[in-house]
Amino acid sequence: MATVIDGKASAQALRNTLAETVTALKNDHGLTPGLAVVLVGEDPASQVYVRNKAKQTVEVGMESFEHRLAADTSEADLLALIDSLNADDRVHGILVQLPLPAHINESKVINAVSHDKDVDGFHLINVGRLNTDGDGVVPCTPLGCLMMLKSHLGDLTGMTAVIVGRSNIVGKPMAALLLQANCTVTIAHSRTKDLEALCRTADILVAAVGRPRMVPGSWVKPGATVIDVGINRIEEDGKNRLVGDVDYDSAAAVAGAITPVPGGVGPMTIACLLHNTVQQAKRIKGIE
Ligand code: GUN
Repeated sequence: MATVIDGKASAQALRNTLAETVTALKNDHGLTPGLAVVLVGEDPASQVYVRNKAKQTVEVGMESFEHRLAADTSEADLLALIDSLNADDRVHGILVQLPLPAHINESKVINAVSHDKDVDGFHLINVGRLNTDGDGVVPCTPLGCLMMLKSHLGDLTGMTAVIVGRSNIVGKPMAALLLQANCTVTIAHSRTKDLEALCRTADILVAAVGRPRMVPGSWVKPGATVIDVGINRIEEDGKNRLVGDVDYDSAAAVAGAITPVPGGVGPMTIACLLHNTVQQAKRIKGIE
């Protein structure tokens, strides 16, 4: 049976370190890092994420600013709010929860956030940095995945990594990070031929497609490390369940290690958001 990679414990450890850093920033520099989260509309899953983010921000000693806007908020009003947050010295990180309502241009909004206050790593400048000198802020979900992979496997050099899913939020930045870590990387997607055979070549298999239990154990190379980014709500046996993109039971029987859902990637993503906020606060203030 596979080792279970405990994202909850890793996230707690990271938050403990961050809380110490925040205390030192307050004492030594009079700096309290602040994170602003903007939610447009009432998507229930997004509301849960935003509540968790705000709670954990305060728990590590940072300041949290929450902006909940109606679903019919105009793009101009959202851009005006972002401008005011860009100019607010108490705010060092700005996150606009995605997806946005269809009448708002997502890319315009993402790039309106100052790249110095971007804590998602979605701004074009930070995407460019990640893919060139590696010196920008890194998207939270893939950063959390990389931290768990390194703490479980150590040096990733020479490993074969297959990422299923080509999103801007996970698949593409995950590929950039694993490439920087000297893996041989393939991004697979819905048009990939013989996906099963490709997945079976992977020492590291990352599933990030948003399809419940799409990857069965028969696609997993024996001993591989499986990272399941999916968070899918399904109705099963009359119950509401949270399941990943990997069929956990069959994959855990073959893999060397695997992240569970819930309790794997999810908690690490939020901890990495706090990490990015601290990083941006230090960068803005010129603190090493
Ligand atoms: N929606 C789902 N994941 C994310 C994320 O990492 N950042 C933002 N801003 N929205 C999301």
